Amino acid sequence: MKVKNLRIRQIFSTTSQKTIEVELEIVKGIVKSSVPMGTSVGKHEACCLPVEKAIKNLHLIKREFLAKEFSTQEEVDSLLHGLDGTRNFSKLGGNLALALSSAFLKGFALDSDKEVFEFLSKKPSIPKPICNVVGGWKGQSDIQEYLLLPTVQKSFFESVERISSAYHEIGKYLREFDKNFNFGKNIESAWVTTLNHERILEIITQIATQKFLRLGLDLAASQLFDGKNYVYADGRKLPSLEQLNFVSGLVEKYPIDYIEDPFEEDDFISFSKLRARLEEKLVAADDLVATNLNRLKIGIVQKAINAIIIKPNQVGTISDVIEFVREAKRNNITTIVSHRSGETEDTLICHLATGLGCDFIKLGISGERTTKINEMIRIEEKLAS
Ligand code: PGA
Ligand code: ZN
Repeated sequence: MKVKNLRIRQIFSTTSQKTIEVELEIVKGIVKSSVPMGTSVGKHEACCLPVEKAIKNLHLIKREFLAKEFSTQEEVDSLLHGLDGTRNFSKLGGNLALALSSAFLKGFALDSDKEVFEFLSKKPSIPKPICNVVGGWKGQSDIQEYLLLPTVQKSFFESVERISSAYHEIGKYLREFDKNFNFGKNIESAWVTTLNHERILEIITQIATQKFLRLGLDLAASQLFDGKNYVYADGRKLPSLEQLNFVSGLVEKYPIDYIEDPFEEDDFISFSKLRARLEEKLVAADDLVATNLNRLKIGIVQKAINAIIIKPNQVGTISDVIEFVREAKRNNITTIVSHRSGETEDTLICHLATGLGCDFIKLGISGERTTKINEMIRIEEKLAS
């Protein structure tokens, strides 16, 4: 595949921050790729450079891509790693790397007259949704995300239908029981409430049970950790063993099947203890592993996790994502491709989750988040035809 032209522009994310979009022109047409951004960015993630620097970098390396014929994704991605030369894309920018890498993926797909998910696999499969329905953010609520997920899935559409109806009912309950609630949403378009976690869990449990849904929590515990304790708004300061008891207590009391980042991003040992205690549940790493293959291997050896979050911009290239998913699958780790708090209209993650046959896709359920939900519906329809 020969690149006719490569352009870059600044656009805005759903959190109204500047991010980059790359346009790749090939003989068959033009593809666009933009990059999401995190709010609780883990320290093990690939480096995200300011957009102005990323744009400058593209102009410096552009001719490397215009001069050559590319036949595989690996060629593109090893060129990116070679040009950068660092462990975490600190020179080129993980954001620029992903914009280019994913633009090439889309280019290869277009060149072979396929959708990206079809190009990635001969045997694509639809993931189940895990959706953020209630949440707070730094200081508003101790638990970052309250999630809903189906146990069995007739179709992606049907799962989303159940989750969205639960989301609306939760809104009604919050309006009734939280005097401060007036259908306010956070940056992932989940409801924001001032109720405490026990009350939120009671409400969600009641609604989820009627709809045959299960609960998930993303504690994003690095955000709670002060270096010694997990600090909660109600004054509790829990050392890691007490945090372990707190989390497993919640799992015993409520129908929770999924726990993400219950401990800070370097504490593999506490993850292992929780995983041993909650054998039947999904203990997932986001900040702990940060889509980094070496950290995934540590997690596997230490039996710290049985589920893993995959965020392409945490690592920077499509080849790295593919290798990461393969390693997780080889070790029976449940795979969850995830959006970020700052998104764009790019639906790459829907194609990755389906094309790579991942178990789940983690998304928001309302507002701008429906861009991804709706792309999943189109993919499902195409797969069924
Ligand atoms: P982030 O948050 O995209 O800001 O990292 C989402 C998450 O922690 O899962
Ligand atoms: Zn997370």
